[in-house]
Amino acid sequence: MDNFNNLIDMDDYTVSQWNEIISLAEKIKANPMEYSEKCRGKIMATLFYEPSTRTQMSFQAAMIRLGGNIIGFDNPNNSSVAKGESLKDTVKIVSSYSDILVMRHSQEGSAKAAALCADCHIINAGDGGHLHPTQTLTDLLTLKTELGRLDNLTVGLCGDLKYGRTTHSLVKALSSFPNNRFVLISTPSLALPSYIKDVIRAHGSNFTEVDTIDETIKDLDMLYMTRIQRERFASSEEYERQKDVYCLTKAKMQYARPDMIVMHPLPRVNEIEVAVDDDPRAAYFRQANNGMYVRMALILFTLTEKPKIRPLLIGEIHNNVCCTNPKCVTQTEKYLPHSFINRGDILICEYCDERILL
Ligand code: CP
Repeated sequence: MDNFNNLIDMDDYTVSQWNEIISLAEKIKANPMEYSEKCRGKIMATLFYEPSTRTQMSFQAAMIRLGGNIIGFDNPNNSSVAKGESLKDTVKIVSSYSDILVMRHSQEGSAKAAALCADCHIINAGDGGHLHPTQTLTDLLTLKTELGRLDNLTVGLCGDLKYGRTTHSLVKALSSFPNNRFVLISTPSLALPSYIKDVIRAHGSNFTEVDTIDETIKDLDMLYMTRIQRERFASSEEYERQKDVYCLTKAKMQYARPDMIVMHPLPRVNEIEVAVDDDPRAAYFRQANNGMYVRMALILFTLTEKPKIRPLLIGEIHNNVCCTNPKCVTQTEKYLPHSFINRGDILICEYCDERILL
């Protein structure tokens, strides 16, 4: 049973709760000193098994600005993970020291696996190429601030839509608001996974798939550029084929509307020309700054909201079936129950969303 306010996926909270967190972030941003003692005596752990600048430091800055304290690691090789400690044991121990645990991990489904054994609230700070819900809260705050709305948007998502976890969580969230439309700009190899497209369809939203920025930029309210996720590719040859396919340039920006904004979760490599930074429509540095305020709001919300008691796993346990996703957390954390949602002809892994044909 889940007795905590875990944020593993966006649907752990309702749309009205997302709006509550965003409104609180707006209030904190307007008057941060009013919140400077709200977490006095609280401890947040940040376990970053993968590199991060923004997510880790904005969470840490957020807790410090709320008057709380932080513990954790940003390099598992400096912890007992290097001695072979399992995810379960590390999370079990660190969660007993903390009020809230923020974790980034390379394996898909790792945040749900952590929540199964934790003794405090778990926040998913990115689980492999799967999901990144706190980036999405950042993105929603940015859209609200910059464009004044979260509905009736034509959103272009460009680059690595296959491994780009920020796009998965963002599409899931924006599909929940009325009349949003998606233009998916990628090569066929890096297309948005079909299970995310199914979420768009289930909400009755529309999407189109194109392969250039040029053919669509004039129609967009927001263009979300993403980095090609080198660390997720099976081979360097495949990465070399995909890298640098997309680059937003000052010349391309001439065709965008004067009120379009450009967002990017960052880090950037080559996908936005540096000259675009001076365009007032380039919102990505403001977006990163919003991340700190939205994480302050999320920490406060997590620590004060009454938890909903519910099971973390709702599917069927098939310990004789292995998830076919080589990046699924169940591949290495062997003690985890193999839990699947049964859709008749397919089993859906409850950790990583992999579809397994029966
Ligand atoms: N956007 C984002 O997750 O950035 P970091 O990898 O630097 O945390």
